[in-house]
Amino acid sequence: MKIVFATNNRHKLSEVAAVLGDGFELVTLAEVGITEDIPETGATLEENASIKARYVYERTALDCFADDTGLEVEALDGAPGVHSARYATDGHDFAANNRKLLSELSGISNRKARFRTVISLIRGGVEQQVEGIVEGRIATCESGSEGFGYDPLFIPDGSDVTFAEMTAEAKNAISHRGRAVAALQEVLRG
Ligand code: IMP
Repeated sequence: MKIVFATNNRHKLSEVAAVLGDGFELVTLAEVGITEDIPETGATLEENASIKARYVYERTALDCFADDTGLEVEALDGAPGVHSARYATDGHDFAANNRKLLSELSGISNRKARFRTVISLIRGGVEQQVEGIVEGRIATCESGSEGFGYDPLFIPDGSDVTFAEMTAEAKNAISHRGRAVAALQEVLRG
């Protein structure tokens, strides 16, 4: 099954392709001629996933899906949430985001957090959404060099190590995106 994944991020593409498995051919934005950044103007992960999927569908009329992910920290009332990519700066500065998160949580004992991914799928012109969540906590310092983003600070429940200390396979098996893509696969196969 051929389907457009609204990303040009190779890292994400290979993560999602690995979870979806054989039987799905993922097509990138560049491959359907969309080279501009799709504006993410929504106030929620649901809105942003939907905006991106609709953007692709309106221009290509192809089956497609888009994802949006946020780190939701309980003691920060769900921040950085939908602003996770641009928490500290305007760009995607992972190191600055991690420094800011540690500083916002300094002296706070409630470290509870979760990653949440929302995927919006448009198939045959009909849109539906699935979600994946992993609960965990924010460490007091960074550990590990795998993965990206907040991985060096996020310790999933049931683990003593951060996502950045896990192999890609171990992370995919329990991660927000892994779970959202597993739910997507069920919808696509169903
Ligand atoms: P996106 O919606 O997948 O682009 O994610 C938005 C932001 O959330 C990214 O820029 C990262 O800062 C963060 N993020 C998303 N997924 C992950 C992950 O798997 N690990 C760590 N950080 C992530």
